[in-house]
Amino acid sequence: MASKLSFGLLLGGLTTLSAATIAIAATSTAVPTPEDLWKQIQALKASNAIMAQSHPFQLGSRTVDYYTTDLSNGPVNEAIHKAGKITAVTRYPNGSLMVKVDYDKNKSLTGITAMLKVDGFDAADRNWLMAQYSPTGKVVAYGKVSSCINCHIIVTKQDFNFAPPPTQLLPIPIWKAFFPAQTISPAYAALLKQHPEAVVK
Ligand code: HEC
Repeated sequence: MASKLSFGLLLGGLTTLSAATIAIAATSTAVPTPEDLWKQIQALKASNAIMAQSHPFQLGSRTVDYYTTDLSNGPVNEAIHKAGKITAVTRYPNGSLMVKVDYDKNKSLTGITAMLKVDGFDAADRNWLMAQYSPTGKVVAYGKVSSCINCHIIVTKQDFNFAPPPTQLLPIPIWKAFFPAQTISPAYAALLKQHPEAVVK
């Protein structure tokens, strides 16, 4: 009796264990806490890990992100180098982390956004965990953030990573639709006039 019971328990335990092991095996990157991700972002910032083919203080679209600096980790840069250019990358590997640091016209930090690819996190949207922080690291949005996804989905063929301005630009009505309370940067409006061919359709 006793041995049957313990066998049953063991079996039950094993089944649970193997299910858990499979879940872990399928998740090569676990979902970090917002605090952990903030630390990873700070590490990229401290090491000045500028995203391949981007430049510090690029022009952003609104006055809240008049300047933007894109950061990224090794897997992102390797994918870009392998494909040759950002617009040619079709998939980023799990563990890819890309960050946009936003500054106003005076180069004061206004906020930070990030995308982390976590295997199995959101398969319908290419598994990107979206995060937005205040300049001091307070979480503004975290997880499957539909507002972020609904715009980044425009470049699904690039696996959601836009090439920085002026390589790719979005028309002003799109920015206004997502951020009605924010002011478009005049410098971005000028870029749109100079580079009509760069507008993503
Ligand atoms: C209206 C469209 C739009 C919305 C909404 C939006 N983004 Fe973006 N995002 C862009 C564009 C365009 C770029 C490219 C500009 C650049 O890299 O400087 C970009 C750049 C980024 C980057 C740098 C990597 C890349 O794709 O170029 C990250 C990270 C990012 N956004 C995260 C977010 C997060 C997180 C949210 C939601 C809180 C968000 N975005 C909302 C359009 C949008």
